[in-house]
Amino acid sequence: MRNANEANLTDAVLARLEGAKDPRFKKIMISLITHLHAVIRETELTEKEWFSAIQFLTSTGKQCDHRRQEYILLSDTLGVSMLVDAINHRKPDGATETTVLGPFYVSGAKDMPMWADIGGGAPGEPAYVSGRVLDVTGKPIPGAVLDVWQTDGEGFYDVQRDGGHEQYARGRFTTGADGRYGFRTVKPVSYPVPTDGPVGKMLLGMGRHPYRPAHVHAIVTAPDCERVATHLFVEGDEYLDSDAVFGVKHSLVVEFKAHPAGPAPDGGHSGVPFFAAEYDFRLVRYPAQLRAG
Ligand code: BEZ
Ligand code: FE
Repeated sequence: MRNANEANLTDAVLARLEGAKDPRFKKIMISLITHLHAVIRETELTEKEWFSAIQFLTSTGKQCDHRRQEYILLSDTLGVSMLVDAINHRKPDGATETTVLGPFYVSGAKDMPMWADIGGGAPGEPAYVSGRVLDVTGKPIPGAVLDVWQTDGEGFYDVQRDGGHEQYARGRFTTGADGRYGFRTVKPVSYPVPTDGPVGKMLLGMGRHPYRPAHVHAIVTAPDCERVATHLFVEGDEYLDSDAVFGVKHSLVVEFKAHPAGPAPDGGHSGVPFFAAEYDFRLVRYPAQLRAG
């Protein structure tokens, strides 16, 4: 084709997909090209603006390595991660809802016994988090594994601390016959997503703040059940309605109740005031035919 112009260019590009062998790839590319061209037409993008978009994408790529993934942050802050999550994890009523994984998950956290302290000396106010892992009918699930991680009380994950800091505020717990789990920790606080890269500049340009409301992350797995990657959010946090990555769901907001020194949820005695939160995870079992296969 010659004489491509404003009117026929989109069709010309789409026509070049005729030879695409993978139908799913073809479908996605048709949609991507159609929408991308529509944005350019709708905004009458200038050459200068297109060049700065290319510079933005280039610097986003340059901010990616084994410690930092600026493209995931871009996806998170544009609501793309949560949209993909929503489409891929449609859950029945009563099941624990999913939310973003985030970049601070570290596989291979230590296995810990019930009521162990994941805080490991991290700064913050003492807290106890406990509950059960159940199926959606309310039946306890023994042998479920909770992989939890969170910030300390200053808003930092261990991996954000300089100098190969020892692991803290993360751990793995396995439920017993009654489906119960429990651990000691520090109360998480709200914190900003990384703002020293291109995504930070983008947020500033959009007039947005970079904060996430305080939360504990959890990935819960159990035999024959759908895996759940989620958070427990701290009730009352000022950013619950404006999370920088759109991850908050009402069903995941939990009260961290303030208690004076005294009897503690682990059956012991706390010599200092503490917070206590309770949450039951409800997992969806795979249909029997999938389990058998
Ligand atoms: C997090 O919760 O750890 C997180 C999620 C998305 C972007 C940055 C941080
Ligand atoms: Fe987080």
